Amino acid sequence: MIDKVIEISRIAGEIIRNGFRKNISIEFKTNASNLVTNIDKKSEETIINFIKKNYPNHSVLAEESGEQMSDSEYCWVIDPLDGTTNFAHGLPIFSVSIGVQKNNETICGVVYDVMRDVAYSAELNSGAFANGKKIKVNDNSVLRESVLVTGFPYNVAENPYNAMEKFNAFLKVSRAIRRLGSAAIDFCYLAEGVFDGFWEVHLNPWDICAGKLIVEEAGGLVTDFENNKINIFSKQILTTNGKVHNDMIEILINN
Ligand code: IPD
Ligand code: CA
Ligand code: CA
Repeated sequence: MIDKVIEISRIAGEIIRNGFRKNISIEFKTNASNLVTNIDKKSEETIINFIKKNYPNHSVLAEESGEQMSDSEYCWVIDPLDGTTNFAHGLPIFSVSIGVQKNNETICGVVYDVMRDVAYSAELNSGAFANGKKIKVNDNSVLRESVLVTGFPYNVAENPYNAMEKFNAFLKVSRAIRRLGSAAIDFCYLAEGVFDGFWEVHLNPWDICAGKLIVEEAGGLVTDFENNKINIFSKQILTTNGKVHNDMIEILINN
C-alpha cells in the first residue's frame, strides 16, 4: 500500500507544482488568514478519485471535503496541500500529507515536500525514509543547542493563549525557533534530524496523521504537553528526538 500512497502523493504534488505562482483563485474559510485555493481542491479531488478507484470501500477524512465514512477498517486521512498560505503567497514550502489508518492506528504515512521533490514515507514498524533512503532523528540532548519549530493556529489573533507564551519561553532557552508554515514538513524535518523539537496547538488530524508515524518510525517521540500519548485528534503536539523531550515538557508546563 505504501507505494500507492507515494504514487498519489506525487501526482497531487505535481498538480500543486504546476499551479505554483500561476493565476490561482483564493477563498477564505473562517477568517482572512485561513485560505483555500482552487489547487487545494483540485489536489484533494484527485487523491479521493484515486482512492475510490483503487480502494473503493475505504473511508476518507479529508480537509476540504470532510468525512466519507464506510464500514471499512481503513481510513485515509488527507491534507491535499499543507502550507496553503505559503503556496498562495509564492513561498515554496508546502506539502501533500496522506496517512492511512487501520482500526484507528496509522499504518502508512507519506508527506511529499513538493518543491524539493522529496517523498517522506513510513510504514508501521518498518522505519522512515526520504525518497527511499532511511532517516532518523538527531541525537542532540541539549535544549540550548536545539533548533525548534512551531506554528500558530488561524485564530491566534483572538486567542494567543498557548502560542505566544510558549514561544517566548522557548526563545530564551533554545538556539533558534523557526516557523515554516507546513506542519507536515515540520514533522519530517524533525524526523530527519534537522529540527530537535516541534510543538504546536490546534492542529487537525490531517496535519498530524502521516507526520506522526514518520517521526515515530525515525526514532522520535510524539506526545501532548504533559507527556501523554496522543492520537491524531489531539489539540497539543510535542514531538522531539526523544533527548530534549523532558526539558521541553518542563517549559510547556510552566508557561
Ligand atoms: C496549516 C499549516 C501550518 C500550521 C497551521 C495549519 P494548512 O495547514 O500546517 O503550518 O501552523 O495550523 O492549519 O491550512 O496550510 O493546510
Ligand atoms: Ca494543514
Ligand atoms: Ca491544507
